[in-house]
Amino acid sequence: MADLMKDPVMSAQQFAKLAAIIYERSGIHFPENKKYVLESRLGRRLQELEVDDYDQYISFLSVGPYRDDEFQEMFNKITINETSFFRNEPQLDVFEKQFLGRLLESRGTSKRLRLWSAACSTGEEPLTLAMQVHRTLGLRLMDWRVEVLGTDISERALAVAAEGKYADYAVRSTSPLIKQKYFKQDGPYWNVDPAIRQMVHFETLNLKDRLGAKRLGKFDVIFCRNVMIYFDDAMRAQVINMFHDQLADDGALFIGHSESLRGLNVPFEQVNIPQGFVYVKKGHAKEAAPNMTVGGTLPLTPAAGTVPPGSTPRKVA
Ligand SMILES: C[S@@+](CC[C@H](N)C(=O)[O-])C[C@H]1O[C@@H](n2cnc3c(N)ncnc32)[C@H](O)[C@@H]1O
Repeated sequence: MADLMKDPVMSAQQFAKLAAIIYERSGIHFPENKKYVLESRLGRRLQELEVDDYDQYISFLSVGPYRDDEFQEMFNKITINETSFFRNEPQLDVFEKQFLGRLLESRGTSKRLRLWSAACSTGEEPLTLAMQVHRTLGLRLMDWRVEVLGTDISERALAVAAEGKYADYAVRSTSPLIKQKYFKQDGPYWNVDPAIRQMVHFETLNLKDRLGAKRLGKFDVIFCRNVMIYFDDAMRAQVINMFHDQLADDGALFIGHSESLRGLNVPFEQVNIPQGFVYVKKGHAKEAAPNMTVGGTLPLTPAAGTVPPGSTPRKVA
């Protein structure tokens, strides 16, 4: 028989309390006009728990032995896990064609490379980066220690990543050539080549957890795309400062092509490249992006390939 229980109604006060709890725990910001979003995502969770009132749910999240587990269930429900292989390819091309070669050259002695896809959802982004490094290094990969780390707050998303098995939707922007090279078709699924999977590992990490991030060590490149749109400026600045600590001085930070760091007081500057942009540590553009153009201090980052208005580009010697 169909479940006739109706979604409980969330009052304005209950929304305010829940939004504050969620923000405090994860930095995810639900503005007042997104009450209906929270209500529709959590309604199902309350039904599963057979809880018919948000006050009860709020106290479940606030006290008691199961609150940490419930936070995880809640993040599984409220996060948007939209992603795909080779998402926004022009930006990935910037990484591979303009940046990776120089980085490999400078790491020629240690032969060690560490990439981080922070908020990787179901794993398509870090697996894409691994494919890019794999095809760039070719046979030389044998001499290298390449580590690609994918982290996310949602354990449910990471469980999909750990399986390495994807539906058609995940490869919708992947070229037939790449599919042939790095995937094996298995009925309706696409299995990622074990050679790529072994370059990548996954861990749960809340981007609010600065100590947890510190434990991961330093990275040469950090990708953090399409998640900061869910944060407010204070959380964005906190996350960007954390990336600054975890990034090598000559490394690069890639954020979503439609995301903006405008107005944030953070120690990065934008480097414009004909096909896109990348962020490097302030004062390190010479090592991180030789021969590229620095576009002022953290201006707006609009669509890939456009220099933000008001910036005064200068060439890095
Ligand atoms: C839209 S996906 C982006 C995936 C991928 N980076 C991309 O651009 O295709 C956003 C991801 O951010 C994660 N997320 C949201 N808040 C987070 C937080 N505080 N810490 C870590 N991950 C978070 C969500 O679980 C979700 O998987």
